[in-house]
Amino acid sequence: MDNKKELIRVTSEYFENSIDYHKLLKASKEYKNLLNKLCGQELDKVTGKDNIQLNNGMALGTLWAAMCIDDLIRTRKFIRGINKAIKEKINNKESIHILYAGTGPFATLLLPLILRYSKHKIRYTLLEINPITFKILQKVISELKLGAYSITLLNEDATKYKLTHGIPDIIISETMQSALAKEQQVSIFFNLMRQVNLDSIFIPKKIKIYLGLKTTESSSEKIQTQNYYKEKKVFEISKEDSICAHLIENQPHKEISFPKIKTIITKEKLEGFNQLALFTEIQVFKDEVIEINKSGLTTPLIIKDISNNSKDSITIKTQYKICNEPKLDYKIT
Ligand SMILES: C[S@@+](CC[C@H](N)C(=O)[O-])C[C@H]1O[C@@H](n2cnc3c(N)ncnc32)[C@H](O)[C@@H]1O
Repeated sequence: MDNKKELIRVTSEYFENSIDYHKLLKASKEYKNLLNKLCGQELDKVTGKDNIQLNNGMALGTLWAAMCIDDLIRTRKFIRGINKAIKEKINNKESIHILYAGTGPFATLLLPLILRYSKHKIRYTLLEINPITFKILQKVISELKLGAYSITLLNEDATKYKLTHGIPDIIISETMQSALAKEQQVSIFFNLMRQVNLDSIFIPKKIKIYLGLKTTESSSEKIQTQNYYKEKKVFEISKEDSICAHLIENQPHKEISFPKIKTIITKEKLEGFNQLALFTEIQVFKDEVIEINKSGLTTPLIIKDISNNSKDSITIKTQYKICNEPKLDYKIT
C-alpha cells in the first residue's frame, strides 16, 4: 500500500474524540510498524542505545526516543494538541512555520499532521541533535516522498539554535521526563522563548511541578489520583508564567538561576499519607492536558518515605537546577 495513505489510515485513531484503548493500542502498533518499515531497520539492533550527555542534560539514544511512541496517552495528547494549535494559527495567515525541536528518529508527534494539511500552508523545521537519530529521520522523510512539502531537517542543538529563518508560529518539544529531570526541555524552551514574541505557541503550553503527598495504600474504589494531595506548585515553565517572563527579560544571556521555594506541610495535612512526592502536570494545548499518572511523563516522583514521621510539620526547600543532570533540587528538614 502507498505509504502516505497508510500513514493517514493508521494515525486516524489519534483524532477520534473519545478514547478506545483497544483501538488506540492497535493504531499505535500499526504506526510503529509503518515507521520501522520506512526507516528500514530494527532500531534495537543499531548502535543507537547510548544517550548523549550534554552540559544541560542528556539527549536520548535513538532506540529510547523511538520508544516514546508507546506512551499512548502522551502521543495522542501531543498530536491532538499540535493539531489544535495549527487550527488556531492557520486561518489567520497565508502560511505558518512550525519548529519541532528534538524530533527523535520519526518526528512522531508531527508526522501524522503533515499530510493532513496543504503543502502550501505550512513550513516545517525539524531539529535533532543525535546524529544516528537524525540519519534515520532523513531516511523516514525521504521514504515518505514529502519533497513537495517545505521541510528543513537540521542536525543541531536546540538549546543553542538561533532562529535565523523567522519566528515560528508553533514550537514543539517533548524532551522531558517526569518532574523535568535529566533531559533538556527547560534549556530548549528558554533558548527559544528568548527569541520569539508573544504570538508563538509553545507545545506543551505549560508544564507544572507540584510538591505534595501520596499514599501507597489503594483501595479498589479509589482511582489513582485520589491518593494524591498537591500542596504547592514549585515550578512552572510557560511563556505566560511571571517567573519565566522575568528570567527571560532579566537574564537574557546568563545561565538561568531559578528562585528557591520554601514549602511547609503541616502535621494535619500529612495524616493519611506516607510519601513526599513531586507531581507533574502538562497542558499540551487547550483542553489536551496530561494529568498526573496518565503518562510516563507525569508519573509521581517519590522523594521521601514519611511513614515514620514524628515531626509536627515537614519543611522542603526546592529549586530547579539546570546542569548536566537537570532536576528539581530539594532539601527536606
Ligand atoms: C524524548 S525524545 C522524543 C522523540 C519524539 N519527539 C517523540 O516525542 O516521540 C527527545 C528527542 O529530542 C532529542 N533532543 C534532546 N535534546 C536535544 C537538543 N538539545 N537539541 C535537539 N534535539 C534534542 C533527543 O535526541 C531525542 O531524539
